[in-house]
Amino acid sequence: MAGNDNLHMSRAGKTDEFYTQLSTIEDELRHYRKYFKGKVVLCNCDDPYESNFFKYFALNFNALGLKKLITTCYATSPVIYTQLSFFGEEETVGTSGEGRKPYKIEITEVKGANGDTIFDLSDVEYLLKNDKNVLTLLEGDGDFRSAECMELLKECDIVVTNPPFSLMKEYIPLLAESGKMFLVLGNMNHITFKEIFHYFKENKMWLGYNSGHFWFMVPDYYEEKKTDYKQDENGQKWRRLGNICWFTNMDIDIRHQPLDLYKHYTPEVYPTYDTYDAIHVKTVAEIPCDYNGIMGVPVTYLAYHCNEQFEIIGELKHGSDSKFDFAKPIINGKEKYMRIAIKKKTVNKSEN
Ligand SMILES: C[S@@+](CC[C@H](N)C(=O)[O-])C[C@H]1O[C@@H](n2cnc3c(N)ncnc32)[C@H](O)[C@@H]1O
Repeated sequence: MAGNDNLHMSRAGKTDEFYTQLSTIEDELRHYRKYFKGKVVLCNCDDPYESNFFKYFALNFNALGLKKLITTCYATSPVIYTQLSFFGEEETVGTSGEGRKPYKIEITEVKGANGDTIFDLSDVEYLLKNDKNVLTLLEGDGDFRSAECMELLKECDIVVTNPPFSLMKEYIPLLAESGKMFLVLGNMNHITFKEIFHYFKENKMWLGYNSGHFWFMVPDYYEEKKTDYKQDENGQKWRRLGNICWFTNMDIDIRHQPLDLYKHYTPEVYPTYDTYDAIHVKTVAEIPCDYNGIMGVPVTYLAYHCNEQFEIIGELKHGSDSKFDFAKPIINGKEKYMRIAIKKKTVNKSEN
C-alpha cells in the first residue's frame, strides 16, 4: 500500500481526508428540513461509497421530498478503488491509482429498499438497479471547480457536504457567489480568511447550530496520535478536530435569538486596544450589555450572532488582510488572539 499512501498524501493533502459521521449530519440537518422539499441536492465532494452525506440524503430522500440527489466523487478518494464492479474487469485500477474513474450518481427515486434500514455498499448498487437512478463517469477528475461539476452546481438548489478544508478559500466563495443555498462543514478559523470573512460581515452567510470538537473517520494511512485519536473495534481510525462548525446561508431560528447579556462595562475590565478604538472582550459570556461602541470578541461569538442585536463591523487580526481587518488586537503592547469587531444594534430599554 506504500504507493497508495504516497498518492493520497500528495494529491489530496493529509488534512482533507476525514469523513463525517451520520450522526453529525443528522444533528444539523434536522433544523433545515423545510428547505428541501422539491429540491435538487448536490454533494460535490462525496463518494457515495464512503460519504454519509450521500447516505443521509438517500435514506431521507422521500421524507424530505427531494426531487434529485446528485453526488460527485473526486479522483483521489481512497475508496474509489473499490468501484470496479460497475465498469467490469477491464477497468482494473493499478495500486498507484492510475485508471481510476471519478463519477457522478444521480438519484431521482428511492423505493422498496431491500429490507435493511442501513445503507451499505450493496444498497448503493441497489439504488442503481432502478433505471431512474444513474451512475455516469465524469470526463475529468471530479474537481468541484471543473466545468462539468460547475454545471451540476448550476442545476442544483442546495449544496450540502464536508469539503476539503485545504481549498476553503476557493470553495466558499464559489458557493456564496453561486446564488444557491448551502450547508457545509468548516472550521472557525476559515471565517477570518479574507476570501470568506466579508460574507459574514455582509450577512450573506452565518454559522449553523452545532460547533465545537467533532470526531471524524480517517483513512488507514493516517498516523496514530497521542490525543484526539482512536481506533474502534473494527479497526477504523478516528480523529477529533476542534473548532468545527457549519457554514450556511439558509435562515435558521437561532440567528434571530439575541444573547442574554448580564455584564456591565467598566474601563478596568474592558481595556481599549492600543491600535484601535474598541474594547477587548475576553469571552462571549463577558460581552457587556451597556457598551455602545465597538467591541473585539472571540471568533466563537459568531456561533451566537444575532443580526438584530449586533452588527459585524470587521475583524482585528493583522491589520492588513482586507479593508475589514482594522488592526492587530494589541493591549499594553501585548498582542491578543484575533477578534471579531462588533457593535450593538439594539438599545436596552433601561438606556432609553
Ligand atoms: C473532508 S473530506 C469529506 C468527505 C465527505 N464529504 C464526508 O464528509 O465524509 C473532503 C473530500 O473532498 C475530496 N476532495 C479533495 N479535493 C477535491 C476537489 N478539488 N474537488 C472535489 N473533491 C475534492 C477529498 O478526496 C475528500 O474525500
